[in-house]
Amino acid sequence: MRDEAEQTVRYPQGHVLLRNLARTFPVVTHGEGVYLFDARGKRYLDASAGALVASVGHGNREVADRIHEQLLRVAYVNGTHFTTEVTEQLASRLCALAPPGLERAAFLGSGSEAVEAAVKFVRQLWVERSQPQRTKVIARVPGYHGNTLYALSLSGRPHYKTFFGPMLAEVVTTAAPYPYRSGLEDYERDGAEHYARLLEETLRREGPDTIAAFIAEPVIGSSAGASPPPPGYFERVSALCREYGILTIADEVMCGCGRTGRFFASERVGFTPDVLVLGKGISGGYAPLSALLVRQTHLEELRQGSGGFMHAQTYLQAPAMTAAGLAVLDYYKRHALVDHAARVGAYLQRRLREALLPLPFVGSVQGVGLMAGVEFVEETSRRLPFPRARKVVEGLLAELFERGLVLWSNTGHADGTNGDLLMIGPPLVITEAEVDELVDTLADGIHHFFREDR
Ligand SMILES: Cc1ncc(COP(=O)(O)O)c(C=O)c1O
Repeated sequence: MRDEAEQTVRYPQGHVLLRNLARTFPVVTHGEGVYLFDARGKRYLDASAGALVASVGHGNREVADRIHEQLLRVAYVNGTHFTTEVTEQLASRLCALAPPGLERAAFLGSGSEAVEAAVKFVRQLWVERSQPQRTKVIARVPGYHGNTLYALSLSGRPHYKTFFGPMLAEVVTTAAPYPYRSGLEDYERDGAEHYARLLEETLRREGPDTIAAFIAEPVIGSSAGASPPPPGYFERVSALCREYGILTIADEVMCGCGRTGRFFASERVGFTPDVLVLGKGISGGYAPLSALLVRQTHLEELRQGSGGFMHAQTYLQAPAMTAAGLAVLDYYKRHALVDHAARVGAYLQRRLREALLPLPFVGSVQGVGLMAGVEFVEETSRRLPFPRARKVVEGLLAELFERGLVLWSNTGHADGTNGDLLMIGPPLVITEAEVDELVDTLADGIHHFFREDR
């Protein structure tokens, strides 16, 4: 048995550039289903699947064995020279499931990379169409598209940009639908028209023919706590984009791959994008993997123009990664995981609302399927956020972690600085009994935290 000092790591121990230089990190030894275990033998319910990644649960032997088999066949070939059976199969299977027209897929290592590739694809298309003046991408606030410099530029999260301002690209923004803070009397009834009008004003102000693309998360991830759009929203904004010739990009890195109870979240919300991006759950964490799905018609334009999409990275279509994606897709099919996520997701949403909404300082609970967000406020009547300096969600997260419940947080969404959100997104394999454990532990933790600390 290792001693206590070796079972956790805290800066300046070790040589890993730790994500947080003030926190103690338990060393995880293994995982099983929705649970993780650390070197002290402590068990955690991974209620956020890491960062909404571990779709097929931890310790999934069916998936791990398939990746192992591929590694023994061939781990890596470069996309310049070869393709492989696993990559071909994964592309065919994804395109068969995808919204109409998305018939070609490329594979990369992270969500940020796929977002960057999506933007480059769209930009190249406009240049080849002799419309080089289309340089701008419209992104929504709040929103998140990644942490590399252009993906970060697209992200409506001011505090992530603190140190990097002069190095970021200029991006045009419009308000994202956010039920709790829309200011609308009836979000469901009026939301689509309201937010479409804001987008149209932005388009007209910027000059529609300078805009290359509109990028949106079909269900907003952690930056607005699993906010679904109001009914009709994506139909309205897509119609606007079509009218002005603007291409649409769906970022399903977080909400895709079954998390909303449909494999593609776009389908759930009536969005038929020109380009679609997947990540996270596509490989469930068993390998770094993301996907870029594009229209065959657009690719054909590139073929007839310059000859192909001008983008490559070392791990583009690498079989060690795509084997993970294919194994995960097979696992989804064999275990009807998307239907399971829809069923257990409905249960999670109901239980969260019942258990949390009556608690003090809980402003809102929202979400779809197995992704949900809880916003905490100092005054519920005025939806007044806690001052950021109190670091409320950080404290609550630590309390829940102590209790063996791992969740994801977000800050700053209320007004750019303040705002305390918790994000729930367990592995899709979670059972109803495990949902009960999750919700009960969360409710107890919130109750205790606010009684002791506020
Ligand atoms: C919607 C969305 N897009 C893109 C990304 C970036 O993905 P990655 O962290 O894999 O680069 C994320 C990550 O959280 C995300 O939630």
